[in-house]
This record gives sequence, structure tokens and C-alpha cells, in this order.
Amino acid sequence: MKDQLIIFDTTLRDGEQSPGAAMTQDEKLRIALALQRLRVDVIEAGFAAASPGDFAAVQTIAREITDCTVCSLARANAGDIHKAGEALRQGRRKRIHTFIATSPIHMEKKLRMTPEQVFDSAVGAVKLAREYTDDVEFSAEDAVRSDMDFLCRVFEAVIKAGATTINVPDTVGYSIPELWGERMRQLIARVPNAGKVVWSTHCHNDLGLAVANSLAAVQAGARQVECTINGLGERAGNASLEEVVMAVKTRSDVFEVETRIDATQIVPCSRLVSGITGYPVQPNKAVVGANAFAHESGIHQDGVLKHRQTYEIMRAEDVGWAANKLTLGKLSGRNAFRARLEELGYKFRSEGELAEAFARFKDLADKKHEIFDEDLQMLVTQSDAARTEERVQLVWMEAMSKTGTRPVAKVALNLAGEIREQQAQGDGPVDAVFAAIEKLIGSGAKLLLYSVNNITTGTDSQGEVTVRLTKDGRVVNGLGADTDIVIASAKAYVNAINRLEVPIERAHPQRSFEPTP
Ligand code: KIV
Ligand code: ZN
Repeated sequence: MKDQLIIFDTTLRDGEQSPGAAMTQDEKLRIALALQRLRVDVIEAGFAAASPGDFAAVQTIAREITDCTVCSLARANAGDIHKAGEALRQGRRKRIHTFIATSPIHMEKKLRMTPEQVFDSAVGAVKLAREYTDDVEFSAEDAVRSDMDFLCRVFEAVIKAGATTINVPDTVGYSIPELWGERMRQLIARVPNAGKVVWSTHCHNDLGLAVANSLAAVQAGARQVECTINGLGERAGNASLEEVVMAVKTRSDVFEVETRIDATQIVPCSRLVSGITGYPVQPNKAVVGANAFAHESGIHQDGVLKHRQTYEIMRAEDVGWAANKLTLGKLSGRNAFRARLEELGYKFRSEGELAEAFARFKDLADKKHEIFDEDLQMLVTQSDAARTEERVQLVWMEAMSKTGTRPVAKVALNLAGEIREQQAQGDGPVDAVFAAIEKLIGSGAKLLLYSVNNITTGTDSQGEVTVRLTKDGRVVNGLGADTDIVIASAKAYVNAINRLEVPIERAHPQRSFEPTP
């Protein structure tokens, strides 16, 4: 029988550290429920000590999730551990994940602590965490650049103190597969009582090697992989869950492990995370990208038609692309609409919520005769956004483009109950719309990113627009979808403005540290 590979999802914690990906409590809960349907083993719900909002999100997820272990991150100090323990109190299966950096550069320059102080903090934190739960994970941040002898000494001590999972992070994405596998192999061989704990790997993607490094660690004996949906995360991101899971499954001839993941939930979960965080999935992304199963060249198409396995190593439907089919149309009723969304894992919380989403569906069906699952998912994501009390709302807009003239746009916004209109010119229709919105609200925000994606194929497809804005050091992503990409752009800009108004302040786990009192 194969060993189980524990899938530890950190989309809600490390993933949320991506610029602009901060989520509300409600959004986090929706993702946690999707992760539960995906059957991940551990959900890292957040960093309870970061802010009251993070504390509440961890608490809610711990209360609502019944089939996965729920985990909170905590720095290796008493305050953080107490917060994590409190937030998880009502959880069925709870884990405290405590960490401290062990590399010379982090200890000296960031923590300003001696190795002995770090050693004592690690042991103290694990002992304290065990007072809240039997499931305690310890991470040696920047293990990749840590001295091997020191790392072994710290790991030996934290195992003795009660840690049950030892996580070895490549915090800066510096390693390469051969070296990372070797490091894991050596640690398991050298640390006394290594067999009493689960060894885990946590890789960042700075060199594009996070998945390859994670898989090398699995081959060397790691039995937990820390990863995120769509590879979301700090800088270039974390190891992508869907790639790790499908590599292990597709190459079961090579890996001696299996996961309990329901792979058919991968694509719906990927779409949900992308919709909520405003991070589009690149079309050529493995497993979940729009082109992952598209065959362009005639030779490939011919081969696949004759025998699928000539060019396909996985089946699209096995990872949830089966959902990518024509589903509903203009004449579909409310029950069919509800039933299809339930099949996609979305449950309406009230009849009012269903009615509001159904009205949007009818609007869309008027503009677009074929409605796909991706359209439905975007529609409910948008409905959720609409339900949150948005101070700024788009009432209508028009934009004019004509060869030889400067585009002009008119926009009407509902500003806390008052309808106001403005007109502006711009370098293109989208630029003109943004300028008109800014004339009305004068936010002073700076545009960092603008991107457009097709939700499905065809010229009547909805365009999904992401707008990233920054103001006073905060970064937010706004999302908008419409069959008209200029309108989608206006919706995305307004969505980002509203998000700027909801302060989600949090400490960053890797940036500050108060030594153990
Ligand atoms: O990258 C990292 O080192 C982390 C730790 C907190 C596990 O995210
Ligand atoms: Zn990380």
C-alpha cells in the first residue's frame, strides 16, 4: 500500500500574502469550503495574531470546517501562540504552525537574535502550542540557507518538545531539485526520532522550481507538501497544489504516495480563488490554464481524435474541466440554475440571494446565448461582490472610440446614494472611463496592473478584467466581468475602489518579530 501524501493548503495564508490578494472573512470561508470539497488534508486558515480580522477568519473557518484539519500560523512567541490557540479553540481538528528563521542571515539581520535565543524560542513555542493541541507543526524559516548541523539540532529539540510535523521551507525559492531532495534525505537520516514526525516541504517559486523541488522532497521521504491553489503566494508564489497533486497521480509509477484529493474539484476551486483574489490564471498554466487541454496543431488534433493518449497524459474531465460545457441558456429556469450551481459546489444561503443571482443570469443570457460553467461561477462571484455594501456603484457608462479622435467616456456613479455623472477623455476608451471615474471620486489611487482575460472562448465570451490599485501603501485587486470589456473594466475599477475603502490591515508574518517574553 502507498503512503499518504498530506496536502497542506496555504492559499488563505501564504497565498494571501500576494499583492492585493487580501480577502474578507466571507471570501475566506467560501474558499475554505471549496478546499474541503477538494479534500485537502490541512487548511492553513490564516495568521491569527496578525489582526482582529485574521483572528475572526481563523475562528470561523475552524468552526465551519469539519473534514479537514484547520491550522493557524504563529511566530515562535507566546502572544502569537495564545492567539492561534484561542482562534482554533472550537475546531474539530486543529493545528498550530509555529515558525522561526534559522539561517544566519535571518537570525542576525532580521531577528537580531543569537542562534541560542532562536533555539530556545523554537522549543518554548512548541511546548506552549502543545498546551492547546496535540497537532503542532514547526517550520525553520529559510531552512534552505540554514546550517545543516544547527538545523538538525533545532529539529531534534522541537521533536522532543512535542512537534508532530517538521516543515522544511525554501522560503526564498533558491534550491534546485537535486539539492532539495538531498537536504530532505539527510535531515531524515540525521535527526534523532525522525520517524516519529511527518516531514514536510514548503517551496517558493522564485526560480520556477517550487513544484519540482517539492516533488524531489517527496521522493526523499517528505510526506506533506505545502502548496496553494494556482500557485498563488509571496513574490513568484508557492508550489501549485494542482500540479503537485496531478504529478503524483499521473506518475503513480514513480511516486510511492497517493493523496485523498478529489481532482474533479480542481478547476472549480482554481476559478473560485482566481475570481476572489483577482489573480487571473495564465492560459498556458499546467492543469488549470485555459489551454492546458487545447490542441492547436493539426497533427496533434488528428492524433487525439484517433487515440486520446497520443497527446494527452491526463483527462480534462478528471481535473474538473468536464464542467466546461454548454450548460444553460436564455430559457433555463431558476431550478436548473440553482441545480447547476449546486453541482459546481455553490450553495445559496437564502432565496433572496438566489433571486438576485438569477436576475443577473437572465441579464447575461440576453447578451450571450451560450452560458458556460465559467460564466456561472463569475456571476456568483460578482453577486457576492455586489452584496457587500459597496459605497461606490456603477450606474451606467458609455465610451466612444472613433479613428482620428481622442476617445471619450461618460460615467454615472452612485456615491453613497447620490447619482453623479462625469465625462473625460483618454488615450483609449478604458483610459477615458478610468479618468471619468477618478473625476467623480478623486481617489488618488495609482494603477499598478490592468489585465483582460476571456472567461470562455468566442467573441461573445465575457471579458474578465483585473485592475490593481495602490494607495497609501495598500494594494488591492478589483475584478469585473462583462461581454463588453470596457464595461468590465469600469466594473473592475469600481470594485477595486470599494476594496480600497475596506481596510484589511495585518502584520506580515515574515517581516516583524517580537522575541519571546
Ligand atoms: O516561506 C516560508 O518560510 C513560510 C513559513 C512561515 C513556513 O511561509
Ligand atoms: Zn512561504
